[in-house]
Amino acid sequence: MRIAHLSDLHFGRDVPGRAAALQVELHALAPDLVVLSGDLTQRARRAEFTAVAEFIARLPAPVLAVPGNHDLPGWRPLLRFIDPWGRWRAGLDRALEPELAGAGFIAVGINTARRWGPHPDWSRGRVNRAQLARIERLVAEVEPGAVRILVAHHPFLLSTELRRRGLVGRARRTLVGLRRARIDLILGGHLHRGYAGVAEGVVVAQAGTAISTRCKGEPNAFNWIRADEGRIHVEMRSWDGAGFASAAYWCFGRAEAGWRVLAESG
Ligand SMILES: [Fe+2]
Ligand SMILES: [Fe+2]
Repeated sequence: MRIAHLSDLHFGRDVPGRAAALQVELHALAPDLVVLSGDLTQRARRAEFTAVAEFIARLPAPVLAVPGNHDLPGWRPLLRFIDPWGRWRAGLDRALEPELAGAGFIAVGINTARRWGPHPDWSRGRVNRAQLARIERLVAEVEPGAVRILVAHHPFLLSTELRRRGLVGRARRTLVGLRRARIDLILGGHLHRGYAGVAEGVVVAQAGTAISTRCKGEPNAFNWIRADEGRIHVEMRSWDGAGFASAAYWCFGRAEAGWRVLAESG
């Protein structure tokens, strides 16, 4: 199966024309699934959600989208507490925690963004026990050999460069459960940096910001992923001034003890 993994679109802070260029690229690639791993908007404004809905309507494949911390009305404290996801529901008419099964795969989305936390940084995310239980229940029903995908905005793996940043809350305990549930691949964002690796035997692919001006030292990028029972290929495609081109590549193979890196370049 072939997945276009886009993250951190941040409509409201998108580069003019970049979304249209991305659509052209995606239509040429013809994925089986498009994943949007959160921060679809910059400030959860109505007009931003309208732009997201128009973008989704033009995508060439079924879409699985989860929210990020920017999809909460951060600057409207009352709204944030009383109706944190009202803007998402009204603007997108999509589940906050969707699931999608297709030929040879199941993809499960969880909402890791929280309206507040017992720490000063409310942008941090978390996975709770009920969310893990739902993932376990959903993947238990799929046929053996199907690729099992989890989509969450906040990261389960940090690159060496980003080691000082936080993982999603309860990452380690959740990873043990995900491994037990035989999840193959986790797709995330939030850090606006693209990289891939293995955590607890599970492949983790992080995407940069696909179309926004909020680049953290990297151009706009998304991940082009091909996966089957035994191999997962992650290609980071970055903006080169004229289009999205291959900038880095990872290949993972399934082994007895979980997934492992077979090759990487870029
Ligand atoms: Fe973001
Ligand atoms: Fe984020």
